[in-house]
Order: sequence, then C-alpha cells, then structure tokens
Amino acid sequence: MKTEQYLHHHHNNRRISLTKNALIKTSKPAAYFILLLLTYTIGYLSPPSSSSTTITSLPSQPQQPILRISINTTELDPFRVTTRCADPIPPEIVRRTLIDRLFNGTSPFENFPPAHAAEKLRQTKRVKGWGSNGAVFENLIRKVRPRTIVEVGTFLGASAIHMAELTRRIGLNTQIICVDDFRGWAGFIDRFNNIPMVNGDVLLFYQFLQNVVTFNQSESVLPVPFSSGSTLILLCEWGVFADLVEIDAGHDFLSAWSDINRGYRILRPGGVIFGHDYFTAADNKGVRRAVDLFARIHNLKVRVDGQHWVIYSS
Ligand SMILES: C[S@@+](CC[C@H](N)C(=O)[O-])C[C@H]1O[C@@H](n2cnc3c(N)ncnc32)[C@H](O)[C@@H]1O
Ligand SMILES: *[C@@H]1O[C@H](CO)[C@@H](O)[C@H](O)[C@H]1NC(C)=O
Ligand SMILES: *[C@@H]1O[C@H](CO)[C@@H](O)[C@H](O)[C@H]1NC(C)=O
Ligand SMILES: *[C@@H]1O[C@H](CO)[C@@H](O)[C@H](O)[C@H]1NC(C)=O
Repeated sequence: MKTEQYLHHHHNNRRISLTKNALIKTSKPAAYFILLLLTYTIGYLSPPSSSSTTITSLPSQPQQPILRISINTTELDPFRVTTRCADPIPPEIVRRTLIDRLFNGTSPFENFPPAHAAEKLRQTKRVKGWGSNGAVFENLIRKVRPRTIVEVGTFLGASAIHMAELTRRIGLNTQIICVDDFRGWAGFIDRFNNIPMVNGDVLLFYQFLQNVVTFNQSESVLPVPFSSGSTLILLCEWGVFADLVEIDAGHDFLSAWSDINRGYRILRPGGVIFGHDYFTAADNKGVRRAVDLFARIHNLKVRVDGQHWVIYSS
C-alpha cells in the first residue's frame, strides 16, 4: 500500500517486476551458481590457443576439453550463512558502541586534523560525488524516518553529508554509519589528483573527515574505515541494524553481490536497501545483474528512483 503511494508520487519512477517462474526456480538458487562456476571453470581449463598447434592433422578447430568434476551443491550454496546476527541493539547506543569497539573509545573526529595532514586538506563546500544529491535520498528518508543509516561506499562524503542535512532539516535524530576502506580504487588518482597522498598513502579518510567537519555534521556521521565485507559481518554480529542501507561501493558483480547480500541481513524489518548505478554508464559492470538476481531469489521487487535501485524488505 505505502509503496504504491510512493510510486504514485514519483511518476518518473520505473518499476521492474520479476516474475516468480522465470528461468531459475527461486527454490534452487544454487543452480545459478553452479552454472556460473562451470562457465568459469571451463574458461580456465580450456587449453590456450597456442597449444592447438601440436595437433597438425586437424584444421583450426580448437580441442574440446573433457571435464569430469562432481560438485557438492551444499558446499557451493552461497546462501549458507554460518554467522548469526545478534539481537538488535537500540539505535541510541549505536554510535557509542562503534566508537568503543572500533576506535578504543575515541571518536575519529577528536583532535582532528592531525598536524601532519592539516595543511594538506582542502576546506571546500564543493564535495565531488556521484548522483549524491538524487531525489531518492529525500524520498526514502521522509518515508522511512531512519534512526540508523548504513552507507556502504562513501568516498569524500557527498551522499553521507546530503543525508545528514536532510535528516537534520526534517528533525530526525539519525546516525549515518559510513562503511568505506577510504582507499578509493586502483588508478583513481587519474581523476582525483587533488586528494593528497603521502608516501603512497592516499589521504582520502582525512579529506572525508575534513568535509564532514566543514559541513558541521561530525555528530551525525561516523565512518567505519574498513572493508565492506568484514564490516557488514561485524555489524550483524554486534546487532547493529539499519533502517536504510545504501550500497555504492564496488560496482563489479561479485562486489555488489556480496555487499547487497550482507547489507540486506542488517536491515530492520520494514527497512529499505537501495543503491546507485542501476541506470548509469557503470550499471552493466554488474550492479544491475546483482540487484536483479538478488530480488528474484528473494521474491522481492526492484523499484527505480532516478539512477538508483530500491528494494523494500517487506
Ligand atoms: C562511488 S564511491 C562512493 C560515492 C559516494 N556514495 C557518493 O555518492 O559520493 C565508491 C567507494 O567505495 C569504496 N569501496 C570500494 N570497494 C570497497 C570495499 N570492498 N570495502 C570498503 N569500501 C570500498 C571506495 O573506497 C570508494 O570510496
Ligand atoms: C556436501 O557438503 C556438506 C557440507 O559441507 C556435507 O555435510 C555433506 O556430507 C557433503 N555431501 C557429500 C555427498 O559429500
Ligand atoms: C585503549 O584505551 C585504553 C584506556 O583508555 C588505553 O589504556 C590503551 O592504551 C588504549 N589502546 C590503544 C591501542 O590506544
Ligand atoms: C553544528 O551542529 C551542532 C549539532 O551537532 C549544532 O548544535 C550547532 O548549532 C551547529 N553549528 C553551526 C554553526 O551550524
């Protein structure tokens, strides 16, 4: 009901329904992966083209590899999860809990910036992001009224700061947990040569902290400067759940796939998971495939808001 209203209010949205009885039966998700795995395996086992030169009597037809492998589907099942999430902790102790357990009790904003970085950082109100001010943020924040938001993929903080300003304007008391290793990605300085580097160490984390301080949002935003995989498992084990989970880290299929699966597990009942690059140039790197497959397996609907995909947990 509510979700329908949401669609009516935003008539630009396109809605994608995935039929239950599509190609793959939802009850046998592992089959998809065996197929995927076999495709890879065959690729690896195929003889390199140069080796076919030894068979001189045959024309250019490549030799067919013979595969004799049996697969235990239980072991391959990507949905077999051994970690059990703890019961949710109250939202008002999320920030304190994370500062205590991740940073030994001292907020990263305390005594910031350190002397060695201070003069290298830029104090600017222009923070580079990607679709970071899209209408989806306001739509979802007004609808869900989140106490806890987990953002997976933060970079310089553009989308996190935008969400912090929205929640403040609406009068919500919201913590935005920013999961990012703050390394960027290999080769990223081709496009971001104004982020300082010291002995090969990119100061992305410090520049992000500086941006949050510049926008006076250090009370509402808390970074978790570690890999998304280890962090999302830990949040589940610590009972840190979110009303909104935003996925915008690695855009290849395997990264998006694992972030979506792990992010979904820390969603509160009635929460919403959403992410960038469903309809942009980067989409077919794997984000859209991961989102669609996830929705199909869980029998959920993918909605679209601008460049973003949106999935309601219930
Ligand atoms: C596209 S940027 C995020 C942009 C941000 N949401 C915005 O709108 O401004 C992707 C970020 O994901 C982070 N990232 C990529 N893979 C990651 C991983 N496995 N763990 C943690 N962070 C990762 C990168 O460091 C980078 O900052
Ligand atoms: C397949 O793997 C599961 C999980 O590791 C194991 O319990 C089961 O015995 C295995 N089955 C066979 C036939 O090896
Ligand atoms: C962590 O905090 C305790 C108590 O404040 C302090 O004694 C200890 O040195 C700190 N450890 C590190 C690694 O900073
Ligand atoms: C900065 O944010 C705090 C809340 O965290 C608020 O009390 C204060 O008034 C803000 N300062 C300015 C200059 O906006």
